[in-house]
Amino acid sequence: MKTFDFRSDTVTKPSDAMREAMAKAVVGDDVYHEDPTVNRLEAMTAELLGKEASLFVSSGTMGNLVAVLAQCQRGDEVIMGTQGHTFLHEAGGVSVLGGVSMFTVPNDADGSIPLAGLETAVRNHFDVHEPITKLVILENTQNFCGGAVLNPFYVSEVAEFCKCRGLGLHIDGARLFNAAVELNMPVSEVVKEADSVTFCLSKGLGAPVGSMLSGTKAFIQKARRLRKILGGGMRQVGILAAAGIYALEHHVERLRIDHVRAKQLASGISELPGVQITRDTPHTNIIFFALDDTAEIDTPTFLKKLAEKGILIMDVGPREFRMVTHLEISDEGVEQCLQAFKDVLG
Ligand SMILES: Cc1ncc(COP(=O)(O)O)c(C=O)c1O
Repeated sequence: MKTFDFRSDTVTKPSDAMREAMAKAVVGDDVYHEDPTVNRLEAMTAELLGKEASLFVSSGTMGNLVAVLAQCQRGDEVIMGTQGHTFLHEAGGVSVLGGVSMFTVPNDADGSIPLAGLETAVRNHFDVHEPITKLVILENTQNFCGGAVLNPFYVSEVAEFCKCRGLGLHIDGARLFNAAVELNMPVSEVVKEADSVTFCLSKGLGAPVGSMLSGTKAFIQKARRLRKILGGGMRQVGILAAAGIYALEHHVERLRIDHVRAKQLASGISELPGVQITRDTPHTNIIFFALDDTAEIDTPTFLKKLAEKGILIMDVGPREFRMVTHLEISDEGVEQCLQAFKDVLG
């Protein structure tokens, strides 16, 4: 029996073709700017995103941290959603390492942060009691709002809001390409108003390691120094960049299939007794669901029984669960998952 791991799209392993590209990568010392493969990935990313420059970083967390550190000083404040990854799951790095406070505003179910909420979050920088608001972070897709895709008109409104108040706009696009394919828009359009953007190569795109940070040349120059300070200056890292290039060349369009499979899964499990789809999912490749009181099984037994049938999923609350489709979830995986759910809950 095969095992299908639905816990996250971070679990994918490099394919043989990707490993071959990695093995053949021409490398150099990237701290000296001499790794041709990293340079190619950075140039390719800048072009794709319509930004002046890009930087290869070890993770989405590092990309977001560097983006904040490059745009804020100690005593500054960043506005983000209560469901934002930077607030929830990055160990408070912007505060721990940057002395930057986080002002959180509840996200709406569609992943947006309401403009009225943003308005009340902006501080009065003439008042010495208050921190200085510098940056707004949007997340696209919004993971904990169920992989929701931000409405492009909404993003434009936020960009205008930031511009009028002298604030920067950062987009945490860990799953930016999922948003772009779902919107049928070039990725450069999706992020055209952002001052800085991160996306992950190591999620749905299927690379083993790495994220990209993009913005103006001056911003990336600053970011490069900050990455060095954080210990993220790596040497012959073209081996990893080659996987990123392969992912961008081969794994973007196929994200649509992940979205279709997520819909098939959600529709299948929603028919089972006790299952309630939550967070309006799937918007893209993420499904959240809950077990209601009619499902008598407890959470550890549910997870264990599914695992015995080769299906791994993640619990995110006492009775709520997350499943993510990705490169290694085939039609066979969808079928095996639906059968396992029927066997365990039916
Ligand atoms: C929306 C979002 N941003 C940032 C990250 C951080 O990425 P990494 O795990 O590469 O640090 C994640 C990871 O799941 C994420 O979902």
